[in-house]
Amino acid sequence: MSGNRDMTGSGDGATNAMWGGRFADGPSAIMREINASIPFDKALWRQDIAASKAHVAMLGTQGIVSAEDAATISAGLDQVAAEYERDGVPENWDLEDIHMTTEARLAELVGPAAGRLHTARSRNDQVATDFRLWVRDAFDQMDEGLAALQRALVTRAGEHADSIMPGFTHLQTAQPVTLGHHLMAYFEMFRRDRARIADARARMNECPLGSAALAGTGFPIDREMTAAALGFDGPTANSLDAVSDRDFALDFLWCCSSAALHLSRLAEELILWASQPFGFIRLPDSLSTGSSIMPQKKNPDAAELVRGHAGRVIGSLTSLMITMKGLPLAYSKDMQDDKPPVFEAAGLMGLSIAAMAGMIAGSTFNTTRMRAAAELGYATATDLADWLVREAGIPFREAHHITGSAVKLAESRGIALDQLPLDDLKAIDTRIDERVYAALSVDASVAARASHGGTAPDQVRLQVERARAMLGMEE
Ligand code: ARG
Repeated sequence: MSGNRDMTGSGDGATNAMWGGRFADGPSAIMREINASIPFDKALWRQDIAASKAHVAMLGTQGIVSAEDAATISAGLDQVAAEYERDGVPENWDLEDIHMTTEARLAELVGPAAGRLHTARSRNDQVATDFRLWVRDAFDQMDEGLAALQRALVTRAGEHADSIMPGFTHLQTAQPVTLGHHLMAYFEMFRRDRARIADARARMNECPLGSAALAGTGFPIDREMTAAALGFDGPTANSLDAVSDRDFALDFLWCCSSAALHLSRLAEELILWASQPFGFIRLPDSLSTGSSIMPQKKNPDAAELVRGHAGRVIGSLTSLMITMKGLPLAYSKDMQDDKPPVFEAAGLMGLSIAAMAGMIAGSTFNTTRMRAAAELGYATATDLADWLVREAGIPFREAHHITGSAVKLAESRGIALDQLPLDDLKAIDTRIDERVYAALSVDASVAARASHGGTAPDQVRLQVERARAMLGMEE
């Protein structure tokens, strides 16, 4: 690939205008290309402008640049921002990244005063600041998305607090549960994901600006001022750490990965439930696709992509951890590769969360079919054992054995437990009487599981109520 590329210097001796003072020759074409981050870090332009404006206001206040220059630079930055907003950010590899692109345009607009903006800072603290600001917004957006998804889950769970479905372990019918209970399990997972986000966001909210290249600066800067202007809680404590640290990005990717993992498990269940043998759910047409060859098909593509995207999101966490793991202090250019995985994960999460919220809100649950499935597979066998313990005082282990015999008999006849005649049950154990049939229905089974956090409809309604209060959904 690189065979056609010019591997020599630019030939005309043109060196980089920003840092070329000590260079006799300019970078080769391959150097310019491998070095350029502008194709992706232009996404940081809003943060870069904001951080530069905070920095120059501080330089002016501190008398490090004149008030006049500070005002000129600030107005110039506004103008650059307006151009970016209107026309997009120009991509010139010679200018490497968003920081130099902006500074170069500022110089064209306001002249030599622009050269004072970079006093008492470096691209190292600049990029650390910009990226933190970007990640902070991404945390907030992901949190909002997850809150909307939780609202959808809680709403559907409230509608289906009484709807009975089979609960599984090992994907084998285990005990009847309610659909509301099942949906609220995911509410809990996303609650923990949001707690992780809140925790990480609070931890990352320190401002690196003023750490300069790595060692701080000799200029009398006011780091509290820039930190406050950018909405940080305060300045970072150690300049070496501040320019070398990407924990905030890793925390973000871990938060993404954890939520993606939960989304993927839910997606897998929707895919399973939408399959014909299950038939528990009809996904909204708006989030499904058809087959170009099999006219009967409606494919759960959105759910499959949510499941698939989780792999890419988790990959982005792995990618950045590996980028960081061997780097000595302080900044190394490897760290420029921190942005693509974070941008990719944030984009995938935005889509996945929105698609999932749409599927939860827009799906139709086939409660008849779910109930019928719960009535198959001896899901109430535990209830028979529990009845023997409760009503006949039999130790659970023995009750388990007696129930096993009853299941075996019913299975050999191809009937449900509660279809076994009383005589047959009595033949297995004389202590069984006709009251047992009331315990063998799926309704009795779920109603009985009223322990805190259990599947009983009343418990589910309590969970829903608490969740609605937590989400501020009170009407
Ligand atoms: N584009 C660079 C990055 O994203 C900015 C920092 C460059 N710093 C340097 N010392 N070359 O990491």
